[in-house]
Amino acid sequence: MMSERVKIIIEGKTFEFPVIVGSEGEKAIDIAQLRKTTGYITHDPGFGNTGCCRSAITFMDGEKGVLRYRGIPVEQLAEHSTFVETAYLLINGHLPNREQLTQMRVLLNDSSMVHEDMKFFYQNFPRNAHPMGILSAMVNALKSFYPIYDIEEEQTYTTLNLISKIRTMSAMSYRMSRGHLVIYPRPDYSYCANFLNMMFDNPVNPYKMDEDLVKALNVFWILHADHEQNCSTTAVRVVGSGKVNLYAAISAGIAALWGPLHGGANQAVIEMLTNIQKNGQSIRQVIEMAKDKKKNFRLMGFGHRVYKTYDPRAKIMKKMCDMVLGKLKKKDPLLDLAKELEEAALTDTYFIDKHLYPNVDFYSGIVLRAMGIPLNMFTVMFAIGRLPGWIAQWQEGMEDPEGKIARPRQIYTGAGLTNYIPLGER
Ligand code: COA
Repeated sequence: MMSERVKIIIEGKTFEFPVIVGSEGEKAIDIAQLRKTTGYITHDPGFGNTGCCRSAITFMDGEKGVLRYRGIPVEQLAEHSTFVETAYLLINGHLPNREQLTQMRVLLNDSSMVHEDMKFFYQNFPRNAHPMGILSAMVNALKSFYPIYDIEEEQTYTTLNLISKIRTMSAMSYRMSRGHLVIYPRPDYSYCANFLNMMFDNPVNPYKMDEDLVKALNVFWILHADHEQNCSTTAVRVVGSGKVNLYAAISAGIAALWGPLHGGANQAVIEMLTNIQKNGQSIRQVIEMAKDKKKNFRLMGFGHRVYKTYDPRAKIMKKMCDMVLGKLKKKDPLLDLAKELEEAALTDTYFIDKHLYPNVDFYSGIVLRAMGIPLNMFTVMFAIGRLPGWIAQWQEGMEDPEGKIARPRQIYTGAGLTNYIPLGER
């Protein structure tokens, strides 16, 4: 059977290119030979129409609000799975059996400590340094403390080392930024419980573990575990394509995630809601400001490059807000404000026409606030969750038979040939 082909007419000449069809029917024009055969390249700022790889990890349908990891809907994982099991699924391509899961848990426990000498680095960062900057630097530094010598070792040992240590290192950066004693990981606690304990335990007032909060943290991290070729994942793949070590590739992903248009949006949402409250602005004023291009203000936590309907993760996160606040018997005025803002935006023609809906970050900050996570740690929480996705994507890139070093082209718009003028003649 002839596979589908696409004809492109350039300067009166017709060229044919193959079509690639994905397992969910998504189609792509394979233009790998475009420049060679036609002399043209494509121009696609932000890569909105560019497929950079074939991937079997995550499927998203932005029009229908679908998100699946290895075929399993994120809603089912959020309800039934744990973050560790979901991490296994993403990295290995299938759910673990009991024995595999136990083995993963044992290995995560074995790798949970951080080299004591790393404490010196932490101690010497300025007190107000952002934890994302610290995390990115420290993950890169891991390579010096835990050198790896072959690719197979990198894919098993480094993977688990990273998943386990990122949690310890994140809690450590919080404790040290406050000048508090570092709490070590406990082998009797699950992955999520351990993180909460390392963040909040203290000898005078021991942290009381609450299974509902542990579940909420599992859900939070499951919802962030992968999101196909987003900005930070692309950073991981692009940096990894130079065959750099995994720690360095993940460090680049963390740096990319830091931005307010990406993972930094969860912090930006809370800052926005706090400002609205502080300045006594009305919901209508905020909506009008977001619509006015001259104001350079966007409704943070709204809009998405791929989702043109309600982000499925935001739906789960919104329910979790109510659950966590109810459980802690807390009332957060920012949640009421967020709900009012959402209602106003969803009935406003500007947001309707541009298909702007709440994304995962709109409600996630309120959940984190309720758990006691400080604002500057929000994006770190996102990074811990996204790590299994980054690893799975890096691994897929390393094993890709079509894989090449990432090296896009450009359309040069600068000066033509210009002769150098010596300093005295300028
Ligand atoms: N508030 C107000 N207007 C918004 C908006 C928002 N949050 N998000 C997008 N728009 C408008 C843009 O101004 C643009 O309008 P125009 O076509 O009249 O110029 C249009 O919607 C398309 O936006 P664009 O920036 O081209 O879309 P994108 O796909 O490049 O960007 C985001 C996607 C996520 C970066 C963008 O929606 C955004 O900045 N959201 C806020 C930050 C955020 O929540 N990020 C977390 C993502 S998970």
